[in-house]
Amino acid sequence: MTHRVFVIGHPIAHSRSPMMQNYWIARHGVDAVYDKLDIAPADLADFFRAFRAEPYIGANVTIPHKLAVIPFVDRTDGAAQAMGAVNCLWWDGAALVGGNTDALGFLGNIDAAAPGWDAGGKHAVVMGAGGASRAAIYGLLSRGFAVSLCNRTLDKAVALARHFGAGVTAHGLDAVPDLLVTADVVVNTTSLGMIGQPPLDLDLAPMKPDAVAYDIVYVPLETAFLARARARGLRTVDGLGMLLHQGVVGFDHWFGQRPDVTPDLRALLENDIRAKTPGA
Ligand code: ATR
Repeated sequence: MTHRVFVIGHPIAHSRSPMMQNYWIARHGVDAVYDKLDIAPADLADFFRAFRAEPYIGANVTIPHKLAVIPFVDRTDGAAQAMGAVNCLWWDGAALVGGNTDALGFLGNIDAAAPGWDAGGKHAVVMGAGGASRAAIYGLLSRGFAVSLCNRTLDKAVALARHFGAGVTAHGLDAVPDLLVTADVVVNTTSLGMIGQPPLDLDLAPMKPDAVAYDIVYVPLETAFLARARARGLRTVDGLGMLLHQGVVGFDHWFGQRPDVTPDLRALLENDIRAKTPGA
């Protein structure tokens, strides 16, 4: 029987998950198809009825369902609890698990792009306090980092720092220049630098030469922030890699195999992004 996997969202047309997952399905010779499904919030219960009846082997979950799916699963994993959001569904025996693969994607990407990044100093500066910020913070804390969380709206940084507890301090964006001096990793999780948004304008000259700059934005493929970091001689890690590496984790949950993030696969997604977004 051909296994079925879905990404559900509303809207969902823009999702690149089918392109990525079907590439691995073909390479691994798995008998499965990964489709996108536009599910309106009112239809979520019907989706889960079908999911359990069939049953489907798994799914990814995106906006606006990342919180709404929680009552429909049998349990959530630690990452989903820490992030307050589910982005992946899989079976653990008879139990339907709602998990979050973003933190492992965040880590898998930086492990691949900047080997040894966590072997030295352990101070991270994370800019932004939205959903992506939670994945970065959860991942960094799991590797023993102290996180300076900086956000335009200080209250949101304070609330998120409190949520994570020891290891995270809250600051306004005005604190970033001073904090950068001692940073081993700097992560942008704000929407600054996305196509149509102002760039993230930071002077990276005071940073340590062996520091790593990580941008979660992937349209454009190289943000001004990463271009500046590269020119400064820092190691850089991009957002497309995070998308690909969180996909690895989902595939492993569904099919028990860890697929590779190959140059071919990266090129496939890069070409799609460039084709659909002039200037990306
Ligand atoms: P995501 O879930 O993708 O992380 P989000 O929850 O919308 O997205 O969060 C966007 C982040 O980008 C927030 O931290 C936001 O700052 P505020 O909390 O102050 O809104 C940040 N952001 C968006 N536009 C910004 C801007 N022009 N300058 C600085 N920060 C900005």
